[in-house]
Amino acid sequence: MSDAPQDSLEFRKPTAETGYLLNRLVADSPPLDPNSIYCNLLQCSHFADTAVAVHDGDTLVGFVSGYVEPNKPDTLFVWQVVIAEAARGKGLAKRMLKHLLGRPSCAEVRYIETTITPDNEASWALFRSLSRDLDTELNSEVWFKRDEHFGGQHDDEHLLVIGPFQRQR
Ligand SMILES: CC(C)(COP(=O)(O)OP(=O)(O)OC[C@H]1O[C@@H](n2cnc3c(N)ncnc32)[C@H](O)[C@@H]1OP(=O)(O)O)[C@@H](O)C(=O)NCCC(=O)NCCS
Repeated sequence: MSDAPQDSLEFRKPTAETGYLLNRLVADSPPLDPNSIYCNLLQCSHFADTAVAVHDGDTLVGFVSGYVEPNKPDTLFVWQVVIAEAARGKGLAKRMLKHLLGRPSCAEVRYIETTITPDNEASWALFRSLSRDLDTELNSEVWFKRDEHFGGQHDDEHLLVIGPFQRQR
């Protein structure tokens, strides 16, 4: 018997056609910072190898954007994770992150980095749970600061570092 999850979700590498759908999904998902459509198009094209789009029929229900850090080939930076409200709480975000780690583009990856604001409990819970599953450490410190970097316009962003972990297949 297959142990694949029994649902109708399709995990895809995004294409430029996904960019506008992503823009709308993020806009509907506070507290995420919306990006320009142009930025979303780049995430879905130049960075498609390190992004995953999940579709349920014609609907985009989840997206993880990221890239391998230019000066750290062993580190996947997760830029944004977004799950449509109706699809939350079913393990989808964690499945998508593990899916990315299994891609050939992440063959050298042993660390994940991401940034989270202090009050985004769902996001902290997601990455804590992922670090437990990967049987590794999670360390965090304030990185981008409200006054120093955001001109007082945005909460601090804490940098989370998860790893090292074994290659995921
Ligand atoms: C954060 C978000 C991506 C989580 O997606 P999800 O598919 O519901 O998460 P999962 O079901 O994979 O949950 C992973 C873990 O986080 C926990 N978790 C998820 N949402 C939670 C919440 N609101 N409160 C507490 N824990 C939560 C789950 O219980 C699970 O832990 P477990 O494995 O120990 O049981 C989703 O809530 C979302 O899109 N929020 C709006 C956008 C956002 O804030 N994105 C993150 C910033 S990059």
